[in-house]
Amino acid sequence: MTGTHTITVELGLRSYPIVIGAGLLGGGFDLRPYVAGSDCLIVSNQTVAPLYLEKLTTNLVGKNIAVIELPDGEAYKTTDTLHSVLDKLVDIGASRDSTVIALGGGVVGDIAGFAAASYMRGIGFVQVPTTLLAQVDSSVGGKTGVNHARGKNLIGAFYQPGIVLIDTGTLATLPDRELKAGLAEVIKYGAIADLEFFSWLESNIKALLGRDATALAHAIRRSCELKAEIVAADEREGGRRAILNFGHTFGHAIEHCLGYGEWLHGEAVAAGMVMAAALSDIAPDESARLRALLVAAGLPTAPPGIGARKMLDAMARDKKVQRKQIRFVLLKALGTALVTADYNDRKLQQVLEAAN
Ligand code: NAD
Ligand code: GLY
Repeated sequence: MTGTHTITVELGLRSYPIVIGAGLLGGGFDLRPYVAGSDCLIVSNQTVAPLYLEKLTTNLVGKNIAVIELPDGEAYKTTDTLHSVLDKLVDIGASRDSTVIALGGGVVGDIAGFAAASYMRGIGFVQVPTTLLAQVDSSVGGKTGVNHARGKNLIGAFYQPGIVLIDTGTLATLPDRELKAGLAEVIKYGAIADLEFFSWLESNIKALLGRDATALAHAIRRSCELKAEIVAADEREGGRRAILNFGHTFGHAIEHCLGYGEWLHGEAVAAGMVMAAALSDIAPDESARLRALLVAAGLPTAPPGIGARKMLDAMARDKKVQRKQIRFVLLKALGTALVTADYNDRKLQQVLEAAN
């Protein structure tokens, strides 16, 4: 195991650590203090469990461990799958001091977190994220839930974990396409909140794509620091937290129009960030830098010809719409973002037409 780094998400009595290091699974970190009672349920899926379940159990020696392996994929992020987890908790006789441990990407983490939030009105919850996207975004901040047939993440709760344990070694088995999709969210943090980090990413993108361990560890650490700071300031997205949705209004419209699963979320967000930057009142060379970094990361920078009208209709259904007005996260400058409904309609039309 190499150097471990801990970041705290400061939320008063519900504060928790994000522990980042290589080799933390397989006994490199004692998870038992984060499992209050003797019983825990590890929720994983059919892809991740064969790779990392056995290792995780060595971090929990002496605990009663039950396991549920979910089918893999966003298509299974449903109330049916949630019920299968709740059924398992009932079957094993889980009680108030039992703990749910999510081992997997954002899909597993979101389902397991909501099961932990709802079983007996809330039991222990631990996140062990294994995709880059989950390590830099979904495992931190307490958004949990499942999809409804008529909308993504429509059913859920804010429920913070007791710890996020990030073994960066798990990224070794992540498919390239998933790694790149996670990098889109990493680039997002630089664009919205940290110009210096953005410049670092420009210099280190090749190392990140080559899975250089030091570069990945730094990218994960800085992303988690930025997310922790934003969540601590605005846990329930009353204001500042919404900047984390940079590129997502356009991105969700792309996902919706293409059919979920066609493009990965990070790919749609990458194209969405280029469009959001074009709508922003920033210098052309700043938009060009964002675009160039996404290209260097092997990510798309425009939707695949969906059509302006279709995208606008899809955006009107965004969760950030208030009083029928679409709200966008725009850049004030590269490295600083704001949420606003004050944008130029003609410019929006031009951005949509130019990209489509
Ligand atoms: P995912 O969970 O579907 O994982 C992607 C794929 O990688 C899956 O096939 C998975 O089995 C596989 N995988 C996971 N870890 C692996 C590993 N180490 N080696 C090999 N394969 C591995 O997708 P994701 O991108 O991690 O998460 C997307 C989900 O996260 C979406 O449902 C999205 O809504 C949600 N999300 C939630 C938040 C939040 O704040 N809660 C934020 C962003 C996204
Ligand atoms: N992924 C956006 C958020 O956590 O708020």
